Amino acid sequence: MERALITGVAGFIGSHLAAELLCRGWAVTGLDVRSPVSDPVAGENLAELTGDPRFQFVAGDVTGGDLAMVCEGVRAVFHLAGLPGVRRSWGDRFGD
Ligand SMILES: NC(=O)c1ccc[n+]([C@@H]2O[C@H](COP(=O)([O-])OP(=O)(O)OC[C@H]3O[C@@H](n4cnc5c(N)ncnc54)[C@H](O)[C@@H]3O)[C@@H](O)[C@H]2O)c1
Repeated sequence: MERALITGVAGFIGSHLAAELLCRGWAVTGLDVRSPVSDPVAGENLAELTGDPRFQFVAGDVTGGDLAMVCEGVRAVFHLAGLPGVRRSWGDRFGD
């Protein structure tokens, strides 16, 4: 079984992409700074996926260090982590 890594998996596009990949027989590692345990939106977006044994959620920041471990055994990376919207990503959070 092929495994994909999706960054930003707790977001709108990432969670839908993960669901589709699982439907197509892939295993998915999903990385996000928002945890489904502490963030209600993330919890809702990931609700369908968390019961699937082929889905592995990793809480983490793509800007914060070594991603080698989450990339292990991964065939494809979908990099969707980001701050969508010009206003949110400008100003104080431009560095992120
Ligand atoms: N939704 C759209 O219409 C649209 C259109 C064009 C491009 N995009 C791009 O697609 C991507 C996903 O969009 P979306 O609508 O799903 O956004 P979203 O906000 O729903 O999801 C983005 C996810 O990335 C996570 N994230 C942010 N910074 C992170 C970091 N440093 N490390 C790990 N996770 C981090 C957030 O917690 C969030 O769950 C974004 O890059 C966005 O700019 C979206």
